[in-house]
Amino acid sequence: MEQELPKGCRVITLPVRGDERGNLIALERSTGVPFGIERLYFIFDTQAGVARGFHAHRQLRQLVATMAGGCTMILDDGEQRTELRLDRRDIAVEIGPMVWHEMHDFSPDCVMTVLAEAPYDEADYIRDYSEFVDLARRG
Ligand code: TYD
Repeated sequence: MEQELPKGCRVITLPVRGDERGNLIALERSTGVPFGIERLYFIFDTQAGVARGFHAHRQLRQLVATMAGGCTMILDDGEQRTELRLDRRDIAVEIGPMVWHEMHDFSPDCVMTVLAEAPYDEADYIRDYSEFVDLARRG
């Protein structure tokens, strides 16, 4: 994945520990998790045609990976918008603060896992795109 990503985003290649029995990926600071993990949530059974996300966070950093299947992630820093297909087990995407993100085209088997550095806090969400662009462009 050599795509240029919006500010605050990074693709992290996770080390796969494979042997004749199969594969294992461990997520921890030393394998690329860029923050202390305070929360883990996962999104699954997403219905056909459904898109999710449509928000940015004021402060929160998250690391997103698909544990099964895949979906298309749109990342947007208010100036640059990038689309990437997240369908590999050895790839995770860091989503920093002030990145608008949307998830589309979930495969029926998609399990998306998100590691977050803070507890759920609705006050940290920006759910209106024009408010997000105004705030992002003000820096
Ligand atoms: P929502 O933010 O709409 O999910 P997405 O952005 O992926 O489409 O979250 C769905 C519901 O789950 C909403 O009522 C908030 C709640 N929620 C929690 O209680 N804890 C969490 O960690 C998250 C991410 C959501």
